[in-house]
Amino acid sequence: MSIVIEDASIKQLDELYKIETECFKKEAFSRQHIANLLTDYNGISLVAKMNDKIVGFIIGIIHMERNTLAGHILTIDVSPPYRRKGIAQRLLKKIEEIFKEKGVKSCRLEVREDNVAALRLYQKLGYKKIAKLEYYYGDAHGIYLRKILS
Ligand SMILES: CC(C)(COP(=O)(O)OP(=O)(O)OC[C@H]1O[C@@H](n2cnc3c(N)ncnc32)[C@H](O)[C@@H]1OP(=O)(O)O)[C@@H](O)C(=O)NCCC(=O)NCCS
Repeated sequence: MSIVIEDASIKQLDELYKIETECFKKEAFSRQHIANLLTDYNGISLVAKMNDKIVGFIIGIIHMERNTLAGHILTIDVSPPYRRKGIAQRLLKKIEEIFKEKGVKSCRLEVREDNVAALRLYQKLGYKKIAKLEYYYGDAHGIYLRKILS
């Protein structure tokens, strides 16, 4: 089955919020927060579809950091039955491509230090660990990773 990556729309909010709550428990973004990100002028949101069904999504944002444009991945979610099919890789590569087209020079993200799946994904795609974020998730530490987009 082929995976199609498309721009996300606010009209898909219900489906995206459902996947967000399947993927994260306490740390799930609220419906309102996802709505705000989907309509943020500096936000980039993509959905992954299989047979026309949304099975994953990614949301990133572009900031200005020390006079350089930087990308920040805020969430990447793949619905549990569709994992290990390369969907997250496709989403991440596509958002990096869009960042680069917009002149973004680097991409950063944060992840729970015990999130092995996400850490392996990011490292496979060339993200490097920059720092440990003490108690970033309340009870758990985070890791800050970054990739230079060349
Ligand atoms: C992390 C997540 C997005 C990965 O999505 P996915 O579509 O299953 O990932 P992919 O199939 O593209 O996997 C790409 C690579 O990531 C790594 N990976 C993904 N899931 C993994 C797992 N469960 N265990 C170990 N490595 C894993 C592997 O290196 C994999 O490459 P491979 O299949 O060739 O070995 C998904 O597990 C998810 O939605 N988790 C809950 C939400 C979350 O934690 N998001 C990240 C927050 S920072």
